[in-house]
Amino acid sequence: MDAQFWDDRYSSQAQLFSGDPNGVLVTELADLPPGQALDVGCGEGADALWLARRGWLVTAVDISRVALERAAGFGTDVEERVSWKCGDLTTAPPPADAFDLVCVHYFPFPRRPEHTALHGLLSAVAPGGTLLFVGHDITGLPERLDDGHAPADYYQPAEVAELLGGDWTVTVNETRPRIVPPPPGSHHTHDTVLRAHRAR
Ligand SMILES: C[S@@+](CC[C@H](N)C(=O)[O-])C[C@H]1O[C@@H](n2cnc3c(N)ncnc32)[C@H](O)[C@@H]1O
Repeated sequence: MDAQFWDDRYSSQAQLFSGDPNGVLVTELADLPPGQALDVGCGEGADALWLARRGWLVTAVDISRVALERAAGFGTDVEERVSWKCGDLTTAPPPADAFDLVCVHYFPFPRRPEHTALHGLLSAVAPGGTLLFVGHDITGLPERLDDGHAPADYYQPAEVAELLGGDWTVTVNETRPRIVPPPPGSHHTHDTVLRAHRAR
């Protein structure tokens, strides 16, 4: 699932996702005071724009230029509060200790034995900051989906929770029904949600 895969996927439709922010984001973060946020794999930008409209300064990163151009077009009202950046977060880690919030929704993060890229991403949360890492519950899914990828090849939130060091407090680590039902034909009926606070 490289940049070409995602550009092709976004280019196949005028708009791939609903344009609404993810339900878990809204539920978990409505009361969090704004600061600096990193949206990992921001896609068409609905989460980044929801945050920016609530006063956050958002760095929104995606590997797909098609998605980023679309996202910027949707967000002209908050363009001074969102920085759209094209990058591969599995090879180029974000700056360390830089964000009060790092949010990760349905990001296909390939598992690696040393977890170097994952630790790079976790380090981006500043002391005192919050990590929100949300995935699809893969229980009962086929080993390989129709598009050929294997869900078990990617980090799941519960696994990320186990890899957090002693500086972290996990406040949510659970599976929930999706707040907004999945699109027709989707395998994904439940979310897996990790929320954690970095103390130091
Ligand atoms: C399933 S979509 C989710 C988009 C958005 N977070 C949402 O919930 O609507 C996954 C996104 O991750 C992006 N992506 C995939 N691999 C990436 C990588 N290595 N670095 C940065 N973005 C990546 C894709 O382009 C896509 O926009």
